[in-house]
Amino acid sequence: MEKELVKYAIEAAKNSYSPYSNFRVGAALLTESNKLYLGCNIENGAYGPSNCAERTAFFKAISDGEKRFKAIAIVGGKDGNFTDECFPCGVCRQVMAEFCDKDFKIILGNKNLEYKVYTFGELLPHSFELGE
Ligand code: THU
Repeated sequence: MEKELVKYAIEAAKNSYSPYSNFRVGAALLTESNKLYLGCNIENGAYGPSNCAERTAFFKAISDGEKRFKAIAIVGGKDGNFTDECFPCGVCRQVMAEFCDKDFKIILGNKNLEYKVYTFGELLPHSFELGE
């Protein structure tokens, strides 16, 4: 399952619109109901409106009515060279905090389809939540 998601994340990165940073990112998000949502980073000439690959995937899923998630695979690298782990940024982690349990899997892959699995709880301990 993890390796398949990494392959999809690499596919997703092909649509990356990143003419300013040339840093391509792809994400493959798996819902509890086993639906797959792909996302890429989408940059903007005004910089601020840019969106990360992870949030693209989450917002696609959430706007489709999905609210429960199992795992996300992420690849990222300069010029689409996915050699190193690409950790989700703080803003994306905060979006995950809204929708993901502590055991949500964050799979960081590379171009050789190697990967390391983290849990959301490891990457954002003591996260802010308003609560019920
Ligand atoms: N980026 C992502 O898509 N996800 C991350 O978690 C980190 C950064 C994007 C934003 C920007 O388009 C490019 O990578 C360089 O920061």
